[in-house]
Amino acid sequence: MQLPCSVEVVEVGPRDGLQNESVMVSTEGKVALLKALTEARLKRFEATSFVSPKWIPQLADAAEVITGLPPTPGVTYSGLVPNERGYERAKAVGIPEVVLVISATEGHSRANLNRTVAEALATIPMLARRGLNDGIHVRVSVSTAFGCPFDGVPDIERVLWIVQSVAAAGIDEVTLCDTIGVANPQQVFETFTRIRHAHPDLKTGAHFHDTRGLGLANVVAALDAGIRTFDASIGGLGGCPFAPGAAGNVATEDLVYMLSEMGIETGIDLERLLNVSDLVGRLVEHPVRARINRSLLQWKCGIPGTLQT
Ligand code: COA
Ligand code: ZN
Repeated sequence: MQLPCSVEVVEVGPRDGLQNESVMVSTEGKVALLKALTEARLKRFEATSFVSPKWIPQLADAAEVITGLPPTPGVTYSGLVPNERGYERAKAVGIPEVVLVISATEGHSRANLNRTVAEALATIPMLARRGLNDGIHVRVSVSTAFGCPFDGVPDIERVLWIVQSVAAAGIDEVTLCDTIGVANPQQVFETFTRIRHAHPDLKTGAHFHDTRGLGLANVVAALDAGIRTFDASIGGLGGCPFAPGAAGNVATEDLVYMLSEMGIETGIDLERLLNVSDLVGRLVEHPVRARINRSLLQWKCGIPGTLQT
């Protein structure tokens, strides 16, 4: 396998993670989490969502979270945006990047956005143009690209058609999301290989949920297909309230650990990240799902007496 020297990790826990928690984390808690993740040298975030607070009350404080963060050179805090109203709210707080969300399947599009896929796609050219005029980078996340709780597995041609439509609207970065964690490595390799072949200049990222334990295997398959940008969530938090059956994302700790063992640089400080893992557990009031923890890391590094058997 042709492996890269480095990959980019996008931290989505503050958005994908906290939107799915029953605990309402305070604005101060969210800002503290984002600052701690930044100190662990993550550089790119989905920090919140400018969606309807009636749909996602956990992230109703999106504006306060973004304005509570000190500007940090080289760090991008983006916000998920479902429509023009969300774009306006994100622009008003000076956000440098928005993530437009669209579904690959009709069932999820209805459940998540109250719109058909065609209706959602139709808004993208206008928001892409607005982003260009306003100096806001616009990228697109395609939910349920590998499977949907309502419609099953979308045809790969359909996923290609959606990516083609998005690219034709002038978008230069697209993330394919396994929203409910049903993708397998063969499917991931084939899908990303087809997309990279069709759109060699489009920056393409991957977003895997780990519902069935295939998250990291899917990361390796995507790496093999040439993908160099991966979403992950601290503590393995995550899930979509409008896509039943999903567990959390691939945990950032686990992803960084695996990549570092494979000799792939992420720029992230794993030791510090594990401290953030502890903070997340306290904020969401339950243990996190990540596999790697301080004991395992210390034991591997040969520090005796730390591994509990
Ligand atoms: N931010 C804040 N409020 C918004 C909004 C936004 N981006 N978009 C719409 N609203 C408000 C409207 O002003 C209206 O308010 P009112 O009832 O006080 O008049 C209300 O929400 C309904 O607006 P409408 O356009 O009819 O929206 P809808 O009910 O059809 O919902 C979305 C459409 C897109 C707003 C909603 O489906 C949504 O927020 N989805 C996001 C789901 C999500 O975040 N999923 C997880 C991540 S993938
Ligand atoms: Zn997700």
